[in-house]
Amino acid sequence: MKRQMILLTLSISALGLFTACTGGSRPTLHSEPNVELVQDMMDQKAIKAQDYDHVTGEAGSRLPPAGTVPQGYKPYAFKGNPAGGATLKNPFTGDLSPEVLALGQKKYETYCLVCHGVTGAGDGPVAAKMALKPPPVTSDKIIGVSDGAIYHIITDGQGVMSSYAYQMVDEKDRWALVNYIRSLQKLKRGQ
Ligand code: HEC
Repeated sequence: MKRQMILLTLSISALGLFTACTGGSRPTLHSEPNVELVQDMMDQKAIKAQDYDHVTGEAGSRLPPAGTVPQGYKPYAFKGNPAGGATLKNPFTGDLSPEVLALGQKKYETYCLVCHGVTGAGDGPVAAKMALKPPPVTSDKIIGVSDGAIYHIITDGQGVMSSYAYQMVDEKDRWALVNYIRSLQKLKRGQ
């Protein structure tokens, strides 16, 4: 009986301690900073990523050494050379399978739709605010160019449109996107 009483008292005090720690049901905002139990962990000598390095006077995040490239990166052979890019062969020529189109659609909706629009008509949500309107990707001009030419625009940009090579490091993503654009063109022509 005595043992049971002790156990009961212990559980009640444990419950009390728990509610005290959590501050009841509602979390409260504290104006005082937390008590630092292990002080070395918060105030250490390492420079924080977004901080300022007081020794060198530079930003805490350093730029990678010159010539650094992302893993799997291949330099583009036709930089600044659209005619050369247009000769590239599409490894998925005419492949409008669900897998390829799903990948291309994901990339299109992530990177291109804002300007070129859902159907590729050049009427994306930000197009209205742009001085130089994005041209449609379903125009006769783009229907008529080679897959390589579209791939080149994605990889190297064109005029005011920047390159998307860093957003799509994997070449497969860019070719799948070319095929998705082909499917938008077919849709427009009702094919
Ligand atoms: C910020 C808006 C914007 C985004 C995002 C964008 N583009 Fe463009 N795009 C443009 C503009 C503007 C042009 C015209 C550039 C020029 O010729 O000066 C253009 C041109 C093009 C052309 C050539 C059209 C023609 O008639 O010459 C193609 C193809 C194209 N973009 C595809 C894409 C693809 C694919 C993506 C996604 C990876 C994309 N664009 C993302 C604005 C954009």
